[in-house]
Amino acid sequence: MKTVSFLAGLVLAAGTHGLNVLITNDDGFGTANIRAMYHAMSALGHNCYIVASSSNQSGQGSRLIFTNNAKLTSDSEFGIVKSGAPSIGQDPNDDHIWYYNGSPATQVLVALDYVLPKHANFSVPDLVMAGPNYGLNVGPFLYGMSGTLGATQTAIERGIPAIAFAGSYGTQTAYYDIQSSTSAGLQDPATITGRLAATLAQAFIDKSTSTQPNTTTPGRVLPLGYGVSVNIPLISSFKDSSCVNPPFVRARMTGGGAYTSKAVYNSASGLFGSANYADAGTNMCINGDCSLPGEIEVLNSGCKSSVVLFTIDYDAPYGVSSLADPYAALLPDIVQLNNATNLVGGLGANASVQGTTGTSSSTGTATGSKASASTKSGAGRVTLETASSLAAFALGVAVMATLF
Ligand SMILES: *[C@@H]1O[C@H](CO)[C@@H](O)[C@H](O)[C@H]1NC(C)=O
Ligand SMILES: *[C@@H]1O[C@H](CO)[C@@H](O)[C@H](O)[C@H]1NC(C)=O
Ligand SMILES: *[C@@H]1O[C@H](CO)[C@@H](O)[C@H](O)[C@H]1NC(C)=O
Ligand SMILES: *[C@@H]1O[C@H](CO)[C@@H](O)[C@H](O)[C@H]1NC(C)=O
Ligand SMILES: *[C@@H]1O[C@H](CO)[C@@H](O)[C@H](O)[C@H]1NC(C)=O
Repeated sequence: MKTVSFLAGLVLAAGTHGLNVLITNDDGFGTANIRAMYHAMSALGHNCYIVASSSNQSGQGSRLIFTNNAKLTSDSEFGIVKSGAPSIGQDPNDDHIWYYNGSPATQVLVALDYVLPKHANFSVPDLVMAGPNYGLNVGPFLYGMSGTLGATQTAIERGIPAIAFAGSYGTQTAYYDIQSSTSAGLQDPATITGRLAATLAQAFIDKSTSTQPNTTTPGRVLPLGYGVSVNIPLISSFKDSSCVNPPFVRARMTGGGAYTSKAVYNSASGLFGSANYADAGTNMCINGDCSLPGEIEVLNSGCKSSVVLFTIDYDAPYGVSSLADPYAALLPDIVQLNNATNLVGGLGANASVQGTTGTSSSTGTATGSKASASTKSGAGRVTLETASSLAAFALGVAVMATLF
């Protein structure tokens, strides 16, 4: 069931070696986004395994929840695996896809300490990719609350480079509902989101191996302790091509109107709920490049994805703001500055995002000639906010409070 594409050949021809990649999320092993990212990474020639929760585990942060039941007490999400099946097992159709009935951080541990050493031909992955989450993970509050980021931090704590991805769509859909062509004749948003994630991961891989061009084993994708958090805007391909190839833009986690939460008391029910709350505590800049835009600012400035580099050496940056930017050397060219005049789409210039209906459209190519799609990738829209991008952003923010 592995997707093999001519892209794999291109990668190998270029001298890059396929990496061993662990893929996880917090939305569950059957969702469209994680499957699309898995197929896009596999198509680039990487040896990929999914280990992810059997059910929706949104909002668990870094919690460790191991099940007390050796068997599933209800069907897995989308009924892929039935109640009574073991609490850990493989997808019925692909032995590189595993589920476990636990929180996102435990997926990483179960993968590293059980699934990969026992069932894969490697034990320690070169890279962990988490997501793409349903709902944005913007700002320090969601950095702590998101299960996608919890799994990412857990991998980094185990010494493995890791990248978290999130997208603006808040509704988890099943992998088998991915359309090969939407009614607009384009690829499914999940397919495009997966390709964007794989393209950025490949750019980080290429960046790291370019420093050791003649080694047969690639170096670390990121230095020890480093991770990346990526937020992808609403991909519009169900409807039109207004946002199908967003450029990647470097951002900060704090600032730009980043949210935390507040408690909202309902006197009729006597219960509390939560609402978004923007405050100084999430909108400061203590260290680093304070001229970078906040993640929310980037997502709100048109069709763009934000890319944030972070470390889990949390108390380290004391007084380092006078040092030269330590992150810049790690960033591939595809991660651009928000104020650049000619932003290139995240899938590459002129990438095809056509669906399979119609004629000889190709999928997965970053050099296809068809797409007019990249023309609205956000190029030049530094301050201009279009109505549709604002609507997309509003949807992203609306789901943010409930879906992490
Ligand atoms: C592991 O398996 C993958 C295919 O599943 C293969 O491409 C790779 O070369 C194998 N690696 C080793 C070290 O055997
Ligand atoms: C890498 O190998 C090529 C071809 O053998 C050689 O020309 C080049 O100088 C090498 N580069 C480094 C950095 O060793
Ligand atoms: C563009 O953005 C970078 C990073 O935020 C900043 O350092 C630079 O001054 C900006 N350039 C202009 C012309 O605003
Ligand atoms: C993308 O298309 C434009 C217009 O057709 C062309 O000028 C440009 O060279 C193309 N870029 C790439 C990287 O193919
Ligand atoms: C997944 O869990 C989150 C957080 O509890 C919830 O908001 C969301 O509705 C759930 N999704 C589904 C499809 O049940």
